[in-house]
Formats: sequence, structure tokens, C-alpha cells
Amino acid sequence: MIIVKDLKRCYGTGDTAVRALKGVSFEISKGEFVAIMGASGSGKTTLLRILALLDDATGGEYTIRGLKVSSLPEAERSYYRLTQVGYIFQDYALISEMSAAENVYLLSLMEGKSKKESYRTALEALEKVGLEGKHDRVPDELSGGEKQRVAIARAIAKKPDILFADEPCANLDTANSKQVLDVFKDLNEKYGQTIVMVTHEPWHIDYVDRVITFKDGSLLSDERKSEGPKEH
Ligand SMILES: Nc1ncnc2c1ncn2[C@@H]1O[C@H](COP(=O)(O)OP(=O)(O)O)[C@@H](O)[C@H]1O
Ligand SMILES: [Mg+2]
Repeated sequence: MIIVKDLKRCYGTGDTAVRALKGVSFEISKGEFVAIMGASGSGKTTLLRILALLDDATGGEYTIRGLKVSSLPEAERSYYRLTQVGYIFQDYALISEMSAAENVYLLSLMEGKSKKESYRTALEALEKVGLEGKHDRVPDELSGGEKQRVAIARAIAKKPDILFADEPCANLDTANSKQVLDVFKDLNEKYGQTIVMVTHEPWHIDYVDRVITFKDGSLLSDERKSEGPKEH
């Protein structure tokens, strides 16, 4: 599903240039739940942002479902980013004045879908993350884990090909982290959602199929826990 070939990202130029990705190659199959690990500064966020089309590589190739997205025109990249890619941030990035349901359906409304259809899709997504009944709460009335689950609902409402999450549990205690990881595992197992999650917590490995570890902008190891992707 994803093919990454010799991907490079250099920030700045000359003596001060930082080579955040030094040419990494790997493939991710449909239905895999992959953890990206590695020390702080090893290039994890840089990689995820490029894979989610939030940033451009400075070298190499990136293909999603046979489509060479690294060389698409910007308009098509935007379309792909908005409709096919879900992204979950460490800090949830919710709008504090809006209810859970409104946070989830805002994007769909902006795409021109009807309010009724957007609301229905939002409730469905909130149910998938175990937040049925909490759709009218604002973020301040939700725990950290619940806020992150609203963010996951927002990301999955558009039924993306791939879900990317950059340290989604970084601000959560163990109990809330488990709730969030259980939701990812459920989405992966029940709906075959492909997920790429950055984390630095060794215990999170229990939830995933495969662990790719980065060191100083290069791939250090790539370990699969089960034999190949699951059938769906
Ligand atoms: N916008 C930027 N400008 C310059 N350097 C950056 C920028 N973003 C990240 N870096 C550098 O690139 C390297 C990799 O960063 P990052 O991808 O954020 O690592 P990680 O997510 O693994 O902590 C680090 O040395 C970091 O300082
Ligand atoms: Mg990071």
C-alpha cells in the first residue's frame, strides 16, 4: 500500500543543514498496524509528516496504492491529504468551543456535505471509538483519553486509507493511553484500518504487528511480530 524508496529530508542548507532523513526505504501493506520508534530527534515526525503529505521530501520516492504522491501537483496532494489520510496529533488539536460531534463533522461540512449526513457520519465515528453518548460534550468536559478518541473519530470519519498518529499517547497516563491504544487495535482488527503510529513507549509494542526503529535519520531495524498482514 505504501512504498517508500530512499526518502530524504534535509532542513536548511550549507553548514547548518540538518539531515533529518538520510534515505530510508520500506513498504507497508494494507491492514498493518505499524509502530515507528526511536530516540527523540531520530526523524520520526519528519517521516510521518511526509507520509501524510503535510511536508515534502527533499529526495527519494513515495507511492501510495501505486500512485506516486511525491510528484503529484499540489492540488491533487491536497485532495489526497484531505480525503484519504487521517492524522492524529499529540495535543489532540480540538476546537475547545465545539462539541465532540461538531469537532468531528466540521471537516465534512467544509467539504460541502449536508449537516444531516455530516452529523450521522460523526456519530458513527464517535461510536467506533467508544464515545457514544458523549457527542455533545466540549473538550473541557472530557478526559485526555476521551479527547484523543474524539481526534481519532475526526480522523476516521472520512474513512481514510491510512491513519497516522504522532505520539498520540504522549500527554496521557497509562489508563488513558490504554483506552486510546485499544481503539487503534479495534479499528485495525475490526475494520482493517492501516495505522502508522509513532511512539517511544516500549509497552505500546504489544498492540502492533510490526516495529520500525529509527536512529539518526536512518532505519535501524524493522521487526514483524506476526507473519504478514491480516486478511480482511
Ligand atoms: N522544521 C525544522 N527545521 C529544522 N530542523 C528540524 C525541523 N524539524 C525537525 N528538525 C530536526 O530534524 C531532526 C529530526 O526531527 P524529528 O523528525 O522531529 O524527530 P523525532 O520526531 O524523532 O523526535 C532533529 O534533529 C530536528 O531538530
Ligand atoms: Mg517527533
